[in-house]
Order: sequence, then structure tokens, then C-alpha cells
Amino acid sequence: MFDVEKIRADFPILSRQVNGKPLVYLDNGASAQKPQVVIDAITQAYAQEYSNVHRGLHYLSNLATEKYESVRGVIARFLGAAQDDDIVLNTGSTMGINTVAYGWAMPNLQAGDEIILSVMEHHANIVPWHFLRERQGVVIKWVDIDETGHLDPQAVIDAIGPKTKLIAVTHMSNVLGSRVDVTSICAAARERGVAVLVDGSQAAVHGPVNVRDIGCDFYAITGHKLYGPSGSGAIYIHPDRQAEMIPFVGGGDMIKEVHKDTVIYNDAPMMFEAGTPGIVQTIGLGVALEYMMQIGMENIAAHENSLRDYTVEKLRGLNFVTVQGTTADKGAIFSFTLDGAGHAHDISTILDKRGVAVRAGQHCAGPLLDHLGLTATCRASMGMYNTKSDIDTFIDALHLAHELLG
Ligand code: ALA
Repeated sequence: MFDVEKIRADFPILSRQVNGKPLVYLDNGASAQKPQVVIDAITQAYAQEYSNVHRGLHYLSNLATEKYESVRGVIARFLGAAQDDDIVLNTGSTMGINTVAYGWAMPNLQAGDEIILSVMEHHANIVPWHFLRERQGVVIKWVDIDETGHLDPQAVIDAIGPKTKLIAVTHMSNVLGSRVDVTSICAAARERGVAVLVDGSQAAVHGPVNVRDIGCDFYAITGHKLYGPSGSGAIYIHPDRQAEMIPFVGGGDMIKEVHKDTVIYNDAPMMFEAGTPGIVQTIGLGVALEYMMQIGMENIAAHENSLRDYTVEKLRGLNFVTVQGTTADKGAIFSFTLDGAGHAHDISTILDKRGVAVRAGQHCAGPLLDHLGLTATCRASMGMYNTKSDIDTFIDALHLAHELLG
């Protein structure tokens, strides 16, 4: 049974005060807080079990390697991947998406080939494709959302043409919370031989994901949003796509042999994991994912959906707030502006005085903000440990902001 108070007690930071008020942390879209089990795992790894991985034959190196490598299996289970080797460990979604851009798209796409993006992608799922546009003449095709923030999967499918090679799409908007029916997109793409990269940075935090059910080629996640350490993450890569890739970061660990005239690469996934990795960060991520799975991803989703519904109701009562993204099944992410009131940064500063942490700005989503005709919004984004009481405090703080700025 989901017990939010028990979960809250696992996160030490939630009992601190900010500006003399109890912390109400609603900036989970940017990064989530860490439970004690993750903090303990990091301390234990550094205090008692630290060494480099894959390199030594001594006790600590073997222990660190075993712990680090076991996380591949945890992530495979978390994402429903068929095998551990489908998981490339990295520093987060940005690295994962760049791995696809450099490792798969650059060698396989020619000038004139097309990549389809939705207008609500995060910069991490836009800028690597601009590199291909600038450097290889690849064409980016944009698909719009409707006025509720919904991305119609059929619109994405209709955008597929003979030159389309890749669809790169978010599973959940980091600004609007809109969920995307990536399963339908993947089914249609597969029939047409088009690869699909799903940016799961937000969606994987808020509910169950199964990459085999989705049918995607690539699925990127980032550890720091998943209650794990920053600098941890992974990308699922379907074995058929792995076979089409070249390594793009060269160094230790991704090779079998190096000679003056030749180099033999390691097999995937290690081929894509050059250099000493984020050993302890990855170990911490494994513990965070076990913690989430123990609570149950369905339970987390149900709790957050009830918070979403509660927030929708409360915000509906505020006639001075405009919320962006109103799809019924959205995640508990609310971007908003106060009508006629100050800049998003001023609003967030007032909220902060009440101990309420939100993000203000463009949210790394320039094309979406352009589409909305806005330069900035405030964003409240919830996590598994938020409560209705947090929402009440947030709503009270919005009244204050309206009074002061309106
Ligand atoms: N991608 C993070 C956000 O949405 C940083 O805030």
C-alpha cells in the first residue's frame, strides 16, 4: 500500500526548512530529491567498496565491477528490456540522445534525409539533431501540438515521408506534462522502416515503462530525475540498432585491443561506454530504481495522478492563473503564468519565500515556448513524495504572488 508519509520520511531533505518555512519541493521535473537508501549506497560505495571498474583483478575492483554491472540488469528490468546488454550506461538523457545522434544517425543518414521532432521536445532532443542539420544537411520536420498540449500520434505518422529515417519524440513533455502515445507512433514507424527514439526523461519517473511493449528503438532515461544521483543514466538500444552503430567516444573500456595501426572495439554496450564511468553514481541509480520498483510504478502513477487531479481543481478556482497543457491524462507537471502579473522569475521568487520550490524560465524548450507565444512560465512539477498539503501551500503562495504582483 502506498504510504506517502512513510515515503517522505525516507527523504531527509524534505524535513528541512527553506526561508523559515517547511520545504515544499515542486521542482522534480528539473531534478528529484534522494532517499536515504541512495545516500547510504553512495557513502558505502565510497567508504568501503570503491575502486575502478573492469580494470583490476583485485578484490575491490571486482566488487565495484560487480555492483556497477548489476545496475545494467536493474535498468533492464525497470524498462522491460529483453536483455541487460540492451542497456548502455551513461550520464543521462543528453548523453543517450547524443549517442544516437553520433553513433547511429551520423553514419546512417544522408543529406536530405528527415528527422521528425515534436514541437514540445526538450533541447536535449533538439540540439543533437541540429548538429546533423548543420553538418550533414539532414532536414528536421516539426510536428505541432494542439491547443491542449496534445500531440496527435497520427500527425506524427502523417509526417513520415520516403526520406524519413528517425522520429525523436518525448514520452512526456517536461513543460506541459502531456503524455505521448509513443506505442502507436512506434508501430507505424516500424512498418515504414523508420527508427524511433523516445525521450523518457520525464515519463519513466511517473509510471511504468516497457520498451518492448512500446516497440521503440531507443529509450533515454536520466538518473537524477529518478531519485538517483546526478551524472547517472542510461539508454535502451534495440540490438538491431546497436548493430547499425559506430562508437563515438573513444577511450579506455570501449576497446578490446589497441595497436599503432589498428583498434578493435569492444562489443556493445561497452563499445558506447568509453572512459572511467560514473561508478558510484550508477550504483546509486540502481538503488534508486530498486526503491521505486519496490514502491511500485503503478502506485507512484496512481498517487501522482490524484495529485494532478487535485491541483487541476485547485488551479481552476484561481481566475488569475493560466495553465499551459490541459490534457486529461497529463503527468503532474503544471506550467503557468499569472494573468497581468510579473515575470515568471518574480513569481517563483515569491513562492520561494513561502518555501515552495518551482522552476521559472524556458525549461530548455525554446520551440515550445515560441509555439505558446511565451518567453517564460513558472512550472510546478510533482514527485512521489508530494502531498495535497504541498499543493495547498503552493496555491496559498500563488494568492500571495497575485496580491503582490497583480
Ligand atoms: N530537463 C530539466 C527540466 O525540465 C532540467 O527542468
